[in-house]
Amino acid sequence: MDSQDQRRSDRLLGLGFGVLILALLVATIDAFAVAVRRWWLPPLASVQGRAVDQVIYTLFAVSIPFFVAAQFFLALPLLRSRARGTDRGFTPPPLTRMPGLAAIIAVAVLAIADTAVLADSELHWFRLYSAPPANALQIEVVGRQFLWYFRYPGPAGRLGRASIDFVSPGNPLGLDPADPAGKENIVTTNTLHLVVGRPVAFHVTSMDVIHSFNLPNFRIKQDAIPGRTVTVWMTPDRPGHYQVACAQLCGVGHYTMRGDLIVEPQAAFDAWMKSQEKP
Ligand code: CUA
Repeated sequence: MDSQDQRRSDRLLGLGFGVLILALLVATIDAFAVAVRRWWLPPLASVQGRAVDQVIYTLFAVSIPFFVAAQFFLALPLLRSRARGTDRGFTPPPLTRMPGLAAIIAVAVLAIADTAVLADSELHWFRLYSAPPANALQIEVVGRQFLWYFRYPGPAGRLGRASIDFVSPGNPLGLDPADPAGKENIVTTNTLHLVVGRPVAFHVTSMDVIHSFNLPNFRIKQDAIPGRTVTVWMTPDRPGHYQVACAQLCGVGHYTMRGDLIVEPQAAFDAWMKSQEKP
């Protein structure tokens, strides 16, 4: 192959790559448009979840223009130089030779976008992990291969003490027999009932490996860690039936680790609670 043929094939290859980058960009935007319509976030059912969604939307609003601009920056110089038949690609000028104002604007835009997203998300994070309101329903959530235990205060009004020292086949959560409150606590497996409009505080822990307590409709996803209890709270604001999931690969039965969540009015919740009480 002589040098002219070589140059011609280089040129075609360059053009091909430029077109490929633009085609990938169009495909990505298309895929995003389809995903938004078909597999978007599950219907929202909590007050605090709105803030989480807003952070997600802000992230998209900030990053999509940067993503599209970066793809054009890759593809256009390639297409232009190859179409003209020059071998020279496009090399951006070093930062020191960039016009001062342009450099300052570029850095400022990045800094502002970064800080805004960080400040926004940290603010919501601190709210989700702040002390729950005084009237919050207190529920202990315990992950175990492969189910969820939920412990309610019941008639006692408070969760009894528990310790790993008391765990036995008849006492899976290790309730302290010396604490009378524990005897009236109500424990369910894979069934979670909540009151619409009433805040709920989940005290999340695990008995064995790391699980993740996931309520997709309420935008709650908290790792359940053995030996630690993490409290996260939210207020359900839409009655209905939802799913509890485990969002951490925790063993062969991981996929079976899911439960039912029912958000209902106070009266229905009270009736259910009554039906769970020990005779
Ligand atoms: Cu527990 Cu996955």
